[in-house]
Amino acid sequence: PAPGWSIDADVVVVGSGVAGLTAALRCEAAGLTTVVVTKARLDDGSTRWAQGGIAAALGEGDTPEQHLQDTLVAGAGLCNEEAVRILVTEGPDAVRRLIDTGAHFDESSEGRLALTREGGHHRRRIAHAGGDATGAEISRALVEAVRARGLRTVENALVLDLLTDAHGCTAGVTLHVMGEGQHDGVGAVHAPAVILATGGMGQVFSATTNPSVSTGDGVALALRAGAEVSDLEFVQFHPTVLFLGTDAEGQQPLVSEAVRGEGAHLVDGDGVRFMVGQHELAELAPRDIVAKAIMRRMQEQDAEHMFLDARHFGADMWEHRFPTILAACRANGIDPVAEPIPIAPAAHYASGGVRTDAHGRTTVPGLYACGEVACTGVHGANRLASNSLLEGLVYAERIATDIATCGDDGRPGTRVPEPVRYSNEPQHPLLAPETRFAIQRIMTEGAGVLRSEESLAKAAEQLRHLHSEARDALDQNGKTAEPGVDTWEATNLMCVARVLVAAARLREETRGCHWREDHPERDDTHWRRHIVVRLRSDRS
Ligand code: SIN
Repeated sequence: PAPGWSIDADVVVVGSGVAGLTAALRCEAAGLTTVVVTKARLDDGSTRWAQGGIAAALGEGDTPEQHLQDTLVAGAGLCNEEAVRILVTEGPDAVRRLIDTGAHFDESSEGRLALTREGGHHRRRIAHAGGDATGAEISRALVEAVRARGLRTVENALVLDLLTDAHGCTAGVTLHVMGEGQHDGVGAVHAPAVILATGGMGQVFSATTNPSVSTGDGVALALRAGAEVSDLEFVQFHPTVLFLGTDAEGQQPLVSEAVRGEGAHLVDGDGVRFMVGQHELAELAPRDIVAKAIMRRMQEQDAEHMFLDARHFGADMWEHRFPTILAACRANGIDPVAEPIPIAPAAHYASGGVRTDAHGRTTVPGLYACGEVACTGVHGANRLASNSLLEGLVYAERIATDIATCGDDGRPGTRVPEPVRYSNEPQHPLLAPETRFAIQRIMTEGAGVLRSEESLAKAAEQLRHLHSEARDALDQNGKTAEPGVDTWEATNLMCVARVLVAAARLREETRGCHWREDHPERDDTHWRRHIVVRLRSDRS
């Protein structure tokens, strides 16, 4: 059906985390009519859950060059050095502008920014807020700024598909909005520039640090629109997620790397520190190395989890420096002041995503991407801790600059959208909501921290089977699940899961956060390259 309502704008931003709201504020400041659409409430995405902080060379003696080196090492040979250089050189000023926007970061007793360390960083360079509630503070500040500037926002708006004009250029997005007054049901925002800032896809696995809204919607939309997607096999598993049982599902509480940055130890069931001697940085080795060491020790000891021991912090430090984590542990019956915290790796971050250039442009004209949904090339095979909020900031600003300076007269919004191709009719089957849980189980079993051709082939076959059941129903009797948030989410999860598994099967090596049991070595001869995917136009 054609949309029941529409809004015209110069720019539509899809998503409302650090990347989306920064892009929106900068576009609006450049005089562009900007609309923000977001799937739930403005502060419901992953940004709010970020704990450790935001990395930038802001400390005495630190330099962008040192930040660059740490990022390249973590990225295991697959970072785009130019993209990283942009990140680390523009990063410090971008953080200062965030502070000017109203975000309050923790300060030392001398009134300077308090900086901590995390895995892979050779220096203290992580700015934090509220102890371990950095994302919540950033989100608060940006949401307040968006409201203060009077930006138009549409909440509870699930993005469906990209609209394109007769020349294949971006012309806006279709949306399904629930209960937002005049904008209810299926509608469209017409705009010649669309910024995807929809976050990650952690919900493709059973246990993840991501909130329930992280269902790969932006990557799935981009794939359906014919954009290129890269590096999807590089899913980062955070080493220290509170272990709540092997059958725990959905969003799990994170125990920030900053806890290790302040001196916590990883110990096994016998109380032995097992990172010492494995890497010069011990517990602060890059995240993939720590996650693998934890998994290995779990296998050796036939254990379901390891422990993070920070009893020596004492009650005062726990309460002031890590109040969020302390509360989450205590809510689950664990007192980190008195006992080691049970932890295990869980899905955390998509290092890959929609492929962009240095200005955030995707391969579809007018379609931009920033934040976790994007693959700018800064993370390579494994993101360096706390580079994600920074990437969201820096590349969002670059996109706003690009949009503000492109177009016939510098105002892309002056171009009247041609009649558009409404592509929200399900040419592909929509999946029943419960398919989500089947996908999560398949992916956790076959494409989790440890992968092999055998496990991935099984996952691919199980996903294909689930998908073809829905496709057959559509082909035979035109039946597809009733459109709604949960059916679209299940459909998007299926789309990204299939591409992720295909990429993970192709990459026959172990690199960064992609760990193949059957190909345990890094293979620079064949695999120092990226897997780039573009769906065929029949969307099969
Ligand atoms: C953490 O606080 O450990 C998460 C930081 C990140 O994902 O970069």
